[in-house]
Amino acid sequence: MQILDGKIAAAAVKENLKKEVDILLAQNRRAPHLAVILVGNNGASETYVASKQKNCHEIGFISTLIRLDENVSEEGLLSEIKKLNEDASVDGILVQLPLPKHISEKKVIESINPNKDVDGFHPVSAGNLVLGIPTFIPATPYGIMLMLEHYNIPTKGKHAVVIGRSNIVGRPMSILLSSNLPHGNCTVTICHSHTPNLEEICAQGDIVVAALGKPGFVKANMVKDGAVIIDVGITRIEDATKKKGFRISGDVDFEEVAPKSSYITPVPGGVGLMTIAGLLKNTLVAYKKAEGIEA
Ligand code: GUN
Repeated sequence: MQILDGKIAAAAVKENLKKEVDILLAQNRRAPHLAVILVGNNGASETYVASKQKNCHEIGFISTLIRLDENVSEEGLLSEIKKLNEDASVDGILVQLPLPKHISEKKVIESINPNKDVDGFHPVSAGNLVLGIPTFIPATPYGIMLMLEHYNIPTKGKHAVVIGRSNIVGRPMSILLSSNLPHGNCTVTICHSHTPNLEEICAQGDIVVAALGKPGFVKANMVKDGAVIIDVGITRIEDATKKKGFRISGDVDFEEVAPKSSYITPVPGGVGLMTIAGLLKNTLVAYKKAEGIEA
């Protein structure tokens, strides 16, 4: 069993990005710029956004954080997005989800200029992904593809089982793994809450991507010997013994499953770090497009 270390793989991606930024700056060009909108102060969102900003700065990107009150109106948020759409100094726009209930996520996502949609959530990006047209890939599935690439994990002809069908992870993941890509060409089964024989199907997976948001859901009896296990779960669980009062749990019962696997991502320290690497790569693509630089 080998750990797929998100810290190592993300550091490799970031090092390459930093080299590219250093070259751009040496050419007297501006730095790539990511703008993040955070509505309210959800604890997990605060952590993710802080990490996105820190990572931007580490590789020489400009990162702007726009904080809006929990009670901001939908129109108020849409008008901030409009400003960023029209601001030529901004390459990528990310609205941290979830949003307060009174705001339509769909409307918000659709209002982002598809050329700046570094989250890859806009219908144009999602449509391009399905059609195999180069586009912004949602950061988490993108990060997982980068992880498979970094550790050179064979995927061609393998059976990948994706648990979860969200627009952010499961669905785009299933498309990428089945696409004709260096780390695609899998036969993919996508399981969800209405899959009656999920355990049986999961146990057939050469590669299992658990993205359902249920801590410890994948048990040893659900995986076959030598499977590659990708754990996307990041649920906060109250834990008085921890300084922060909680611990982070993945969707896989790591203790049980790790010994049976060939490769496994830990939580934390696995997919989460790769997600940011995916986002940074998307932002550089947006920048290059805006600046007319060949990708
Ligand atoms: N909330 C949880 N994951 C994500 C993500 O990848 N992008 C955004 N914008 N919000 C999220």
